[in-house]
Amino acid sequence: MIGTGYVGLVSGTCFAEFGIEVTCVDKDAGKVTALKKGVIPIYEPGLDDLVEKQVKAGRLSFTTDIAEAMQDADAVFIAVGTPSRRTDGHADVSYVYQAAREVARRIEGYTVIVMKSTVPVGTGREVARIVREERPDADFDVVSNPEFLREGAAVNDFMKPDRIVIGTDSERAEDVMRALYRPLYINETPMVVTTNETAEIIKYASNAFLATKITFINEIANLCEAAGGNVQDVARGMGLDGRIGSKFLHAGPGYGGSCFPKDTLALTQIGRKYNVPQRIVESVVEINADRQQAMAQRIIAACGGSVKGLRIGILGVAFKPNTDDVRDAPSLTIVPILQEFGAKIAAHDPAAKKQAEKHLKNIDWEDDPYAVAEGADVLVILTEWNEFRALDMDRIGESMKTKRLIDLRNIYKMPEMESRGFHYVSIGRPDVKPAAQKLRKVS
Ligand SMILES: NC(=O)c1ccc[n+]([C@@H]2O[C@H](COP(=O)([O-])OP(=O)(O)OC[C@H]3O[C@@H](n4cnc5c(N)ncnc54)[C@H](O)[C@@H]3O)[C@@H](O)[C@H]2O)c1
Repeated sequence: MIGTGYVGLVSGTCFAEFGIEVTCVDKDAGKVTALKKGVIPIYEPGLDDLVEKQVKAGRLSFTTDIAEAMQDADAVFIAVGTPSRRTDGHADVSYVYQAAREVARRIEGYTVIVMKSTVPVGTGREVARIVREERPDADFDVVSNPEFLREGAAVNDFMKPDRIVIGTDSERAEDVMRALYRPLYINETPMVVTTNETAEIIKYASNAFLATKITFINEIANLCEAAGGNVQDVARGMGLDGRIGSKFLHAGPGYGGSCFPKDTLALTQIGRKYNVPQRIVESVVEINADRQQAMAQRIIAACGGSVKGLRIGILGVAFKPNTDDVRDAPSLTIVPILQEFGAKIAAHDPAAKKQAEKHLKNIDWEDDPYAVAEGADVLVILTEWNEFRALDMDRIGESMKTKRLIDLRNIYKMPEMESRGFHYVSIGRPDVKPAAQKLRKVS
């Protein structure tokens, strides 16, 4: 398993749980040293126990040496990052190509090279070309096997996926993939076996569709605020329709995370490259970026139009609960804008402080939500961690300077908060008045 990040570590560990011998490789020596000592570099519920169990069973090991990992390997997974290229939003596949070259040099006997990373259509073919160029004698196939796990529920998602997608035109490679996923195959997990290109497109289309669903309900939330309506009831009324489904219909501050922002952007660039603009997804990308800015505006408006000198308490900086991942989290847009407008920020997140510290500066990090509320002029819920759902709101209110609660995840209810004396603002519900003034653009 090349790349021991969120996807590589979870996939490698779960394959070991399936009874397969797995070596995880990472070029980040610090990560590998930590893993060898049993320290898991990411926060992912249930993963630490599983890693420990598989290491003890002798099926899972870690190294920085790709040659060691590839000895007698039947399959090599490439699970390295494919971030947005800063200049243009294309997926940066340079880590994938680099890994492909390193793999090519160590191929011994028939080897299946499996693309786990999310890559633009055509990347698998290019990887095959690179490997052939490096090692004309190598016996190999390239398979696309995109990953759909969700951070925060990754182990369960890997063990009980809705489907497995395998993109290959080689029967030999397909047999190896079926053997790897045998425990799921006998569990009757649907397998979509298709071409490399189709598999690559399935991954982007799936993520873009989910991001579109979120963006759609966010737009409906705006309508609810302007015209009168409750977006949670709208979402329920829609979601009970089996054709629509209730998932990903939660209005909020805009999607973030390690996948949706970069994958939607990459899909718009793929569309342009093939001269078939993905106009829906282009709108989604634009609307979502605007929304995160608008959320900062909402906070400022709720404070009477200025946050200068105010202490703002932030609950949650991870892009969603149960992860320490802050990549493209709404907090990374909203907090700097509030600081730009003169606010002082106190924050707490159950897991993401260490990651967030790399991006957010001048924050008073607190150990719990009550310390964040102490002396605050406003409290903002940015991530719906379970521990924020049942706070002692009387205690919170008593310690705040001004009892303002801005709930960007709709985890509390207005009548209750008002009865406790809070000025309460949420998303897409009757308590919200559309913010009038436009926010000055912040570079
Ligand atoms: N994070 C998710 O929830 C998720 C879900 C589905 C798919 N994906 C996709 O999976 C891929 C990996 O994502 P991630 O979040 O695990 O990334 P990550 O950044 O957490 O991990 C990538 C790892 O690869 C290592 N690496 C890079 N080049 C290497 C090389 N040549 N040799 C060895 N190690 C190398 C890095 O050091 C890093 O530890 C991406 O394409 C992503 O889009 C991610």
